[in-house]
Amino acid sequence: MLNRIHSLGGYFHEYQKSVSDPEGFWADIAETFFWRKKWDKVLNWNFDEPKIEWFVNGKLNITENIFERHLFTHADQAAIIWESNNPNEDSRILTYQELYEKVNQFANTLKTHGVKKGDRIAIYLPMVPEASIAMLACAKIGAVHSVVFAGFSAQSLADRINDAQVKLVITADGSYRGAKSFGLKSIVDEAVEKCSCVEKIIVLKRTGESTNMIEKRDIWWHDAIQNESTVCKAELMDSEDMLFILYTSGSTGKPKGVVHTTAGYMVYTQYTFQNVFQYNQGDIYWCSADVGWVTGHSYIVYGPLLAGATVVMFEGVPTYPHTGRFWEIIDKHKVTHFYTAPTAIRALQAYGLEPVKPYKLDSLKVLGTVGEPINAEAWHWYHTHIGKSKCPIVDTWWQTETGGMMISPLAGITPTKPAYATLPLPGIQPMIVDSEGKELTGNAVEGNLCIKFPWPSILRTTYGDHERCRQTYFSTYKGLYFTGDGVKRDEDGYYRILGRVDDVINVSGHRLGTAEVENAINEHPLVNESAVVGFPHDIKGQGIYAFVVLERDASTHDPEKMRDSVNITVNKVIGAIARPDKILFCTALPKTRSGKIMRRILRKIAEGDVSNLGDITTLLNPEVVEEIKKAAGF
Ligand code: PRX
Repeated sequence: MLNRIHSLGGYFHEYQKSVSDPEGFWADIAETFFWRKKWDKVLNWNFDEPKIEWFVNGKLNITENIFERHLFTHADQAAIIWESNNPNEDSRILTYQELYEKVNQFANTLKTHGVKKGDRIAIYLPMVPEASIAMLACAKIGAVHSVVFAGFSAQSLADRINDAQVKLVITADGSYRGAKSFGLKSIVDEAVEKCSCVEKIIVLKRTGESTNMIEKRDIWWHDAIQNESTVCKAELMDSEDMLFILYTSGSTGKPKGVVHTTAGYMVYTQYTFQNVFQYNQGDIYWCSADVGWVTGHSYIVYGPLLAGATVVMFEGVPTYPHTGRFWEIIDKHKVTHFYTAPTAIRALQAYGLEPVKPYKLDSLKVLGTVGEPINAEAWHWYHTHIGKSKCPIVDTWWQTETGGMMISPLAGITPTKPAYATLPLPGIQPMIVDSEGKELTGNAVEGNLCIKFPWPSILRTTYGDHERCRQTYFSTYKGLYFTGDGVKRDEDGYYRILGRVDDVINVSGHRLGTAEVENAINEHPLVNESAVVGFPHDIKGQGIYAFVVLERDASTHDPEKMRDSVNITVNKVIGAIARPDKILFCTALPKTRSGKIMRRILRKIAEGDVSNLGDITTLLNPEVVEEIKKAAGF
């Protein structure tokens, strides 16, 4: 396979080349793609505005690089093997040829319903092949997809739709999750009441539940595609034309729409997929993420399909109908590469080895993790009991904004160390800085993780607000992209990600801004104010701890009922993923004299570390610290 690294020496050689001549390095890789017109210049960049352009003036379509580039060699190979939530429902297999035709047909459908190049399309679907089809159909005609995780509430969906001024929404009647099913179209209906920009809604029939269809606005997917051709001409896209928007949480305000463009994202996701996983033709790759997150975009849809891989897609949850479901699927489909989140490993580890025992797991060759730091104990369990001590684990560190994996072992090539993401991938130039922005050189240092040179899939902007992009990522340290993560580099030059250093928490691998959760809690009519911090959680990595001050006349309410009621509000505003694990009611929050909430103290209390809370005498209200400590059980 082209552009493949085969040895540790090869890695160091490629890495060196990527640093000494980044443009030459990426041009050689980009040459292996299918361009309608080659680029004039490999890279234009500055991190001040910021402005980053890769493969300048190149013309291409990413779907031609998935399909036309591969159809000669593997039209009949499975592109997607879909496994239903219900183990008794047949799996679906779509070959590259079949997927190609379905993408074309749906691309034509979108055109019939008025979608043009540059229009934004929201996708709010369960984990079914139609999610990939919808994304690729957008890419085929140059529409920009904004996939919204189908666990987000109507309000979250509406915010995302309005921010991107979405013209058409693609959803399903409902969705299955374990033993439950729930309506999706009804959530979309509620959301679009607040979105005058939406003209049409295409609805996939999945659960068959009764669904209210509004004439002229709503169309069933199966009706809409009926008379559409399976041939469709790909739109000619510029390298820097927008491919998609994906909303992610930050430390302030509402989630922002991270923008990725066409050519750089394409080159980088395929390159990293091939090299990190060391995928070979005939292998069966499964990533258990949801397409609503960046992992799904880059390593369920684009990266593997660009590489011509066979991808397993799973609709359900790891514990339904039993806690061995993941392992059953691995045996059933002879999965060779399995990529999941540490939180899933910890959750399944908690059930012991009985659920693992019935399965051979002998098809596995490579294991991967993503989304949060993996603790050594979970790493060893995964390595011993799932990988049978013979499968390398790739602990891949990256972000929505980076588009692809950044620091990671290459499977079977880079010697691994539990809890370490190990070494930067070719093209990635990390830099560790202290809080003043001074570079910490040499090994065995700890500080904030920045990247000093662009890579092809770095975010280009945040949709509709470039200044926010500059401020969030490029202003903390001049001339550097700041990741928001703390990191340690050891004597061997290996990187260990320590977690967020900003007001972002990582709950089960999902990123949430503390301010965002606070805003949701504050929408409760009886809440006066709140402060949210993370705390260590055995399964989720971090849990959400909310300190809540109620309005005066609410203090007589039953605390249990109040907790439920606050949870319902959070569910409504964001979705179940943001529901606090702990809610503590207090009469006030500890504040400085200038009125700033002292989160440091709350964080310590949430972590159960109350022995040294530091100097609290300068607080406006030091007495509340004692009250909160007592209420928290100390
Ligand atoms: O804190 C890091 C953590 O997840 C954050 C990015 O979250 P998101 O944009 O949602 O993307 C998740 C999937 C790529 C990072 O800032 N993170 C991600 N991967 C790892 C990680 N922390 C430690 N180790 C990892 N392998």
